[in-house]
Amino acid sequence: MKRLFTIAAALLFLVGCKQSDNQSVDMNPDFLKIATDRYSVRSFSSTPVAQDTIDLILRAGQVAPTAVNSQPQKIYVVKSEEKMALLNEASPCMYGAPHCFVVCYTDANAVKRGEGTYGEIDATIVLTHMTLEAASLGIGSCIVGYFDEGKVRSALRIPDSVHPVLLLPFGYASPDALPSDRHASYRDLTETVEYR
Ligand SMILES: Cc1cc2nc3c(=O)[nH]c(=O)nc-3n(C[C@H](O)[C@H](O)[C@H](O)COP(=O)(O)O)c2cc1C
Repeated sequence: MKRLFTIAAALLFLVGCKQSDNQSVDMNPDFLKIATDRYSVRSFSSTPVAQDTIDLILRAGQVAPTAVNSQPQKIYVVKSEEKMALLNEASPCMYGAPHCFVVCYTDANAVKRGEGTYGEIDATIVLTHMTLEAASLGIGSCIVGYFDEGKVRSALRIPDSVHPVLLLPFGYASPDALPSDRHASYRDLTETVEYR
């Protein structure tokens, strides 16, 4: 009896696998549209973003997947003019944004990976969620890797155990903001994808 049950369970599993192989997936047009329409905003209006909106963007980061759900991210939200002036000295890529997220990871919570950790990868995934949520709310942003880490650290008094990974200046795009020529230039899937 037990054997029969095991065989039946195995058959059901195989049928399930087969079905999921062949299932056609309904595209979520809303998500793909948000992902496609998002672009790096490099000209912002000075209009501040409401705290409710900032909270939704932070929530999207909070639910992002991280290695072993370790959530090693630490996000500094820079809103004051005084601190934004310091970030402007740390990077030429603030583009007049009224606010900026400084997305970091902490040694304390990052999961080990060989000699290093998953911290940078996790922080980047968190930032990606935030960028896309921002876009869905009509908030522009630009991922910025070009910054002077020392200046960012001293501007925000970031301890040595916390590592800035990327900056995300954000706000409302100014009326003259346009996607760069690079925005919609995609390598063909045949170049970037291989089925094995
Ligand atoms: C890891 C990373 C670092 C980046 N650093 C910068 C940067 O320092 N300054 C900048 O203006 N854009 C930066 N970008 C934005 C890219 O240039 C941009 O995403 C790319 O050209 C595609 O354009 P799009 O975002 O408008 O689609 C960065 C993007 C990524 C993913």
